Amino acid sequence: MDINGKIYKDFLNRIERFKIQNGPDKMHKQNAKGKLHARERIALLFDEDSFEELDAFVTSATPDTGFGKIDEAFGDGVVIGHGRINGRIVYVYSQDFTVMGGSLGAVHAKKIIKVQDLALRVGAPIIGINDSGGARIQEGVASLSGYTSIFHRNIQSSGIIPQISMILGPAAGGAVYSPALTDFVFMVKKTSFMFLTGPDVVKEVLNEDVSFDELGGAEVHAKKSGVANFIYEDEENAILGVKKLLSFFPSNNMANPPYIDTKTEQEKNIDKLRAIVPDDPNKPYDVKKVIKLIIDQGSFFEVSELFAPNIVVGFGRLQGKAIGIIANQPKVLAGVIDINSSIKAARFIRFCDSFNIPLLTLEDVPGFLPGLDQEYNGIIKHGAKLLFAYSEATVPKITVILRKAYGGAFCVMNSKNIGGDYSFAWPTAEIAVMGPEGAVSILYKKELREAEDPKKLQKELAAKYRSEIANPYIADEKGYIDEVIDPAETRKKLITAFETLENKYVDQPSRKHGNIPL
Ligand code: HXC
Repeated sequence: MDINGKIYKDFLNRIERFKIQNGPDKMHKQNAKGKLHARERIALLFDEDSFEELDAFVTSATPDTGFGKIDEAFGDGVVIGHGRINGRIVYVYSQDFTVMGGSLGAVHAKKIIKVQDLALRVGAPIIGINDSGGARIQEGVASLSGYTSIFHRNIQSSGIIPQISMILGPAAGGAVYSPALTDFVFMVKKTSFMFLTGPDVVKEVLNEDVSFDELGGAEVHAKKSGVANFIYEDEENAILGVKKLLSFFPSNNMANPPYIDTKTEQEKNIDKLRAIVPDDPNKPYDVKKVIKLIIDQGSFFEVSELFAPNIVVGFGRLQGKAIGIIANQPKVLAGVIDINSSIKAARFIRFCDSFNIPLLTLEDVPGFLPGLDQEYNGIIKHGAKLLFAYSEATVPKITVILRKAYGGAFCVMNSKNIGGDYSFAWPTAEIAVMGPEGAVSILYKKELREAEDPKKLQKELAAKYRSEIANPYIADEKGYIDEVIDPAETRKKLITAFETLENKYVDQPSRKHGNIPL
């Protein structure tokens, strides 16, 4: 080709047009709102110079009906492609709010679908960066059709490739369903929000005044609805969070998570584990301290930290290998299981099981939360989700009972009867049908009624019950757990136990799918 000839000049002109259309003006427009531009986000996400854009030159199919301005910028408001994150291939789409509010029309949808299909075909994770006014109004049903095809692919990819959504601007209307169908949702405080119907509709239908933030801001979704798994102060840190999260995952369900040498110094600190659980069974402690002392130093990455904090879930590494951790949190509501904690843990377990991430359960739970509110809202159905998720998971599953394992909670929290591979208990473990106070008030109802000092008698009987019935040695001697262990030995025991399970294989009867109580 003659580089001074017309053919080459035409080629360069096109690139120049592209640069102007997608250049500094657009960046400034977006930065002025306290947000990064679609391309700036991609640059931060991927390893240097690894991003390859696809369909950069496509143009919009939006008809000029006279409604709203049509931006004919190349790309139709979304940047798609692939690159490497820590050396591994990842697909991305990143909506460009500077082009018709990042709204989704037919071409925009086709581009997202293209990377969804490619990611699934090659078995690579996909990250969706959402910053959009939703369905492009001028395109009508073509937008709705596009969205629905995206949802369909989210569902087809579920459990095959990891799917992560970042909400870095608006996600309104049906647009929220693609993120909701993916595995993890990231949001940024103040600049991102998600809702099905906006403040104007709320005002019109319910006559209630709500702000964008109150209705669907990052904190609302992290604390109240549980829709957001991670929230950050700014986009840069949210992007770092996505990269860290991905480091625990295999690229697809046929692979194992990557090994990362964490060079842990942990062995020096583990004696501290002996002192964490207080002698007084009613005294709380922070289970996150236990987690951090057991796993490789600095490797804990908590998921949904602000939602249902009475259960802690997150990823970590043991001797460099990724595990998923589920731990009751005695510091919050005594670690009781309720509706939200059941849902949170069940979803986490199902993700780990889909992607070959072994599960570690740290148990200290007095039981299920009683009361009208829980019963009316379906704790039976929601608690069953947790039971279902644990039971159907075929990845290696190990439990350590730190203290309380009472009643249904013993059964649900990965007992050996639902397929737990190993169950260890600390000497502080209390395993029984119910807590001492409840048990003696049923067993000694008459004696307590007739006693001179019922409170004193109940206390004495409860102490006797705790030492004689609710100790870990009965379960150990009868084989319901595998071993009572020294807390300081926990890390060592777990490393060895997980090693033995590396080639675990569970043959399952063929079925279309189970029917988890939704
Ligand atoms: C076409 C849109 C658009 C849309 C925004 N724009 N949303 N164009 N279709 N859905 C355009 C605006 O006209 C404007 O164009 C530019 O994008 C920037 O929008 P602004 O309103 O100026 O920005 P801002 O003030 O930041 O407000 C952002 C916003 C607001 C809160 C997202 O634009 C908004 O409320 N948009 C509509 C949200 C919505 O209800 N979407 C439909 C949901 S229903 P100019 O030319 O002025 O720059 C849905 C159904 C999907 O999505 C169902 C799937 C099953």
